[in-house]
Amino acid sequence: MHRTNNLRRAYIAGTGHAVPEKVLTNFDLEKMVDTSDEWIRTRSGIERRHIARDGETTGTLGAEAAKRALDDAGIGPEVVDLILVATVTPEMVFPSTACVIQEAISAVNAGAMDVNAACSGFIYALSVADLMVASGKCRHVLVIASETLSRITDWTDRNTCVLFGDGAGAAVVSPCPDGDRGILSTYLKSDGSKGEILYILGGGSRNPASHETVDQGMHFIRMSGRETFKVAVQAMGDAAMRILKAEGLSGEDVDLMIPHQANMRIIRATARRIDLPMEKVYVNLNEYGNTSAATIPIALDEARKNGRIESGALVLLVAFGGGLTWASALVRF
Ligand code: ACO
Repeated sequence: MHRTNNLRRAYIAGTGHAVPEKVLTNFDLEKMVDTSDEWIRTRSGIERRHIARDGETTGTLGAEAAKRALDDAGIGPEVVDLILVATVTPEMVFPSTACVIQEAISAVNAGAMDVNAACSGFIYALSVADLMVASGKCRHVLVIASETLSRITDWTDRNTCVLFGDGAGAAVVSPCPDGDRGILSTYLKSDGSKGEILYILGGGSRNPASHETVDQGMHFIRMSGRETFKVAVQAMGDAAMRILKAEGLSGEDVDLMIPHQANMRIIRATARRIDLPMEKVYVNLNEYGNTSAATIPIALDEARKNGRIESGALVLLVAFGGGLTWASALVRF
């Protein structure tokens, strides 16, 4: 999505993240399923993941990340016009997790809705926020990605349980006070024909929750790992390539790429596709695993706060997830 001249520039005014304290290491997983630290590290790059305790939910983590992002932006919750929550692990089917967080943070003047684009959800929601601010419809939009994947993980399935973790990240999108910075462009794509390589089959209107769906574990994530891997490499590379080309840029112009943190090998392949050295790629999946929509805003907040994003830096966000969906964004800080 290109910006046309009659739109004002939106920028990321603040970020925050929150992860559970409780950590589950690869060595812990060795005691739960037939796997090894060595297998998990070499196949995925993951060493640890953070897991929500009882009472910690997508809503509580998301609210904490949101408060930190608002503090960082220097604004109060009462001036937020819209809350968008990207998640595949909502508090409940409805009301939306965005409404739950709206209440928790007292954003009394905000509209609220969820966005479901699986792991690409943060960029999808950022894209909506960008245009809501750019068009003048909203002044401050709070974009939150929060997940408790541990609650939809089959802890007896070694194909999936070693990959996922819990956490939340948030960003405040506001009108840019000066010309050069901001969200330059976003790119969104999907392919519903491949939806069944990565999904939760039970609990929706197709297979309403019943003893049978629960007995068959249909409320857990199911993934065809090899197939997902192949499409992810292709789609992430494509999303990175296309957005740069559309803006007349190349990998050389990128100061930092923040990719969806699913698998180190997918991240390396994406960097190779745009000739980006790994020093310019932000990686934290060793610490958190795959937190679906939350990986990018958690990494973005870390990168801003630990000095990896300097003033003027061009940052490329790129993600892939269930749907299938894939997306990218170019942001100048
Ligand atoms: N420990 C030990 N062995 C395992 C484990 C495990 N945890 N899991 C699978 N294996 C075995 C398999 O059974 C298989 O054995 P076999 O050859 O005897 O059949 C062998 O390891 C190799 O399995 P592969 O699936 O070929 O392993 P691969 O190298 O593809 O790595 C992985 C698997 C890490 C899942 C990889 O395919 C991957 O990362 N896929 C993409 C996942 C992803 O990106 N998901 C993103 C979206 S998530 C979301 O949207 C919520």
